[in-house]
Amino acid sequence: MATYRPKLHFTAKKGWINDPNGLVYRDGWYHLFYQHHPRSTLWGPMHWGHAISRDLLRWRHLPVALKPNDQGMAFSGSAVVDVGNTSHLGSGRDPMVLCYTQHGSVEQQGLSWSSDGIFFRPYPGNPILENPGIPDFRDPKVFRVEGETLWRMALAAGDRICFYQSENLRGWEKTGEILRPGTVPSGVLECPDVFPLTAPDGKMYWILLCSISMAPAQGGSRTLYLIGDFSEGQFVADPQLQASIWLDEGADCYAGVTYNQAPGGRRIMMAWQSNWAYADKTPTGPYRGTMCVPRELRLARAKGRLVLAQRPIEELKRCRGPFITFDTLPERERAVALPGECFEITLNSDTPYACRFENDSGDCLAVGLDEDGQYYIDRSRAGQVAFSPHFYPRAVCKRLTEDEDLAMRLIFDTQTVEAFFDGGRQVMSAQVFPKTPFTRVRFTGAAQGTVYQLKG
Ligand code: FRU
Repeated sequence: MATYRPKLHFTAKKGWINDPNGLVYRDGWYHLFYQHHPRSTLWGPMHWGHAISRDLLRWRHLPVALKPNDQGMAFSGSAVVDVGNTSHLGSGRDPMVLCYTQHGSVEQQGLSWSSDGIFFRPYPGNPILENPGIPDFRDPKVFRVEGETLWRMALAAGDRICFYQSENLRGWEKTGEILRPGTVPSGVLECPDVFPLTAPDGKMYWILLCSISMAPAQGGSRTLYLIGDFSEGQFVADPQLQASIWLDEGADCYAGVTYNQAPGGRRIMMAWQSNWAYADKTPTGPYRGTMCVPRELRLARAKGRLVLAQRPIEELKRCRGPFITFDTLPERERAVALPGECFEITLNSDTPYACRFENDSGDCLAVGLDEDGQYYIDRSRAGQVAFSPHFYPRAVCKRLTEDEDLAMRLIFDTQTVEAFFDGGRQVMSAQVFPKTPFTRVRFTGAAQGTVYQLKG
């Protein structure tokens, strides 16, 4: 039986992973921490695993950075380089400070710090933010607003996101909060993030990204975003501005957060590519859990409104190897042999189209745009699907834009597929477990494009 390990998507050497944590850049290295159970492929006592990369694609594994202790497990959070040593934790070099939830009898926030960015020690004054009587009170995202010297924090508190400010990362005061939007099903909010982006007209907006854990019947785990303004430590959403609310319309993109202090003003997001509805059942080993391809975020227009558009980081193009171009006619389909288990497809079309990935085990994964103007990923016949009743067979979403030429970019890596439609204005991610590797893709519809091998 296949064991699947992706080539270009991050996985732990072994054991369970969920959320990306502590995304921060320092001195040429992107740090990735992550929720981790090193001794099991099931969720359990949460550690922070740690890896670093120069290009966000090839990772060097480092020792576990945080372990459970008498104050609880190390739940999700963020990292900053404390420029100017405002915390007075460092001596000499500016310290790297991790801010995370201590999940003990209650959830409170704590700090750990390091001068080498490898070995971390807890701040003796923990917790830095006590629990005010809210059961779910977690996942601090600490950041700095350009031009300010204060630190700010977004924190998930059940049905709302709370905001705090601090001068030194150690003492925090509340500045505002925003409730879960009434347009999404009820669930617990998790993993918030707040950052600015410039729209195509040059105007700057603020984005609140957060995840919501819902009942399996409601879709399980999804990431949503709000567009609005953030000033004086309060986020105000403007629902009129945005054309959609879900960051990813597929089943497998959760806990997405962005890099702090990334170079060149890049806004790079990573997310966990799974869903709490079945995450502990997926048939992989000795690892379980994958990160999505790192994605660069931007604001784009769709039907006169704004959307948070995503594209795979530019660095991925350097992994392109040999390629095959194809051209199909509406009445005739075209089969192309796949160049391995890790590949990219770019496609342009004038009409609805379908890409069907097949192997000799009779599996088929279908991705495309149907006659009703809906994008879809259908994994119902794509191999192993029976391990959980909640392994949603098909994701669909109505196409948002009508004014753009049809274009798709698809990244496939062993057990994950990510489709970026219309310049990433709509994205769908899904895990997929074919019984044997897909060997060919059949295109239908009038389409032209390229199939590239991706080299891990
Ligand atoms: C999100 C989440 C976080 C929590 C962590 C625990 O997937 O539930 O809210 O900190 O996972 O592993």
